[in-house]
Amino acid sequence: MPATIKLDATRADHLQQAASLLLAGQLVAVPTETVYGLAADASNEQAVRKVFEAKQRPVGHPLIVHVASPDRIRLWVDHLPQTAVQLIKVFWPGPLTLLLPKKSGVSDFITGGNPGVAVRMPAHPATLATMERLGRDLVAPSANPYGRISPTNAEHVLAGLSGKIEAVLDGGNCSVGIESTIIDLTGDTPVIARPGQIAQSDIEACLGITLAPGKAASQAVPGSVKRHYQPVTPTVGVANDRFAALLPEVTPAGEKIGVIWWRSPPGELASESIMLSADSNEYARMLYTAMHSMDEANVDRIVIELPPRENQWLAVHDRLGRACTEQFG
Ligand code: TXA
Ligand code: MG
Repeated sequence: MPATIKLDATRADHLQQAASLLLAGQLVAVPTETVYGLAADASNEQAVRKVFEAKQRPVGHPLIVHVASPDRIRLWVDHLPQTAVQLIKVFWPGPLTLLLPKKSGVSDFITGGNPGVAVRMPAHPATLATMERLGRDLVAPSANPYGRISPTNAEHVLAGLSGKIEAVLDGGNCSVGIESTIIDLTGDTPVIARPGQIAQSDIEACLGITLAPGKAASQAVPGSVKRHYQPVTPTVGVANDRFAALLPEVTPAGEKIGVIWWRSPPGELASESIMLSADSNEYARMLYTAMHSMDEANVDRIVIELPPRENQWLAVHDRLGRACTEQFG
């Protein structure tokens, strides 16, 4: 395949080119408000197959269907329960994926053989405009090689998939920065299958019910495989209240360390350091970019100052738990 081309999301002719490539069964990475997605025409099985090859993702792992308008969910799902209707009204377009019983005929290639199909309407205007031109829905897993951190800008996509996909549509930095919340509506009561910026309390407020605490999703779901979302560089987490005391201990002598912190400046022990934020949404927005930068900086080890164990940090802790090989404190 020729080199991956970079398209500019602010140019109408480039959106048209992205749509034409997708229509021709090619892969185009597209911006969303959460992370960049590796998009293929959901109605073209050959194109969907290419997604697994490009990512080196095991077949059998299901893909989220992305739609450009709420009514298009009816092409994938027979019956929309009232809970789905309410959630769509409040949160779409936005970082919420609904898992619902699939319509018969929806390809097992998309659902990984599951009885449910995952659907979301992303909020990035360029991707919505591309889908409108295409007139079809897209499958789009995060646009990273399997097991690696999701990309939050076009450069991250190219660093991982250059030469393996036709194009990337550059729509700038993602505003949410971590993957969408997945709510499983296939059972008797809604269950959060993957935490994200839209929190359990937001969903409870919308539906007027109390949800059971999120169950650990099955190992068959790749986002919940423990070793996932990892930087290339070995990465450890350290609790913020013991950070200063533990930092020297987790740093073998002679190693170059890169510290990602939010409250405790690491001082001279760090060869590289990146400060995040005490605000959980802001922290999430910056987290993957910080990890990608540390991978580029060629440090021997990344040390991350963990945020507090509080509800608003749930989604961030979920991702850090997967990124870190060990956590201390
Ligand atoms: O924010 C996001 O959701 C991003 C952007 C690009 O939209 N996409 C994303 O896709 O994170 P991916 O493939 O990296 O993660 C999707 C998660 C996986 O854990 C997958 O197993 C689960 O959703 N999933 C998708 N379809 C499913 C299905 N039919 N049944 C169960 N789980 C499903
Ligand atoms: Mg992913």
